[in-house]
Amino acid sequence: MNSRTTPLSRRIAIGSALALTAGLALTGCGGGDGKPQLSVSGAYMPQPVTDQMAGAYFVVKNDGAAADKLTSVTSDLAKDITLHTTDGSKMERVDSLPVPANGELKLSSGGNHVMFMGLTHKPTAGQKVTVELHFATASPVKVEVPVKPADYRPGK
Ligand code: CU
Repeated sequence: MNSRTTPLSRRIAIGSALALTAGLALTGCGGGDGKPQLSVSGAYMPQPVTDQMAGAYFVVKNDGAAADKLTSVTSDLAKDITLHTTDGSKMERVDSLPVPANGELKLSSGGNHVMFMGLTHKPTAGQKVTVELHFATASPVKVEVPVKPADYRPGK
């Protein structure tokens, strides 16, 4: 589970305005039919500074006994949407992010995130962005991601 709190590189517009302050939710046991059972919570997007780039964060909880992977994200907000991990101040693009069985995948400022490049419009706080999460095994999940002020901190 990723609980790194290192800020994103200062070169990244969405970077240091946010820091993870919420504790990790403990995962329960459940499911057991051998399939991933996914639910998404805590989604938000800090209001992007420009129309060039935005980031989004959320938690994918898996109550099933089988692991899954987040493989892609689609949205009208941008064509170029990628999954990133953060190592220190460096972002790295990855093909997928693991959702462990009876566990969770946590995306958070300074850690795993979804990056939107070349936005079709610049969303502002109070709006919502519809995204669809695609997984290796589970059916796609549609999420209405609330846009928060650029300095929003989850859990406050
Ligand atoms: Cu990134």
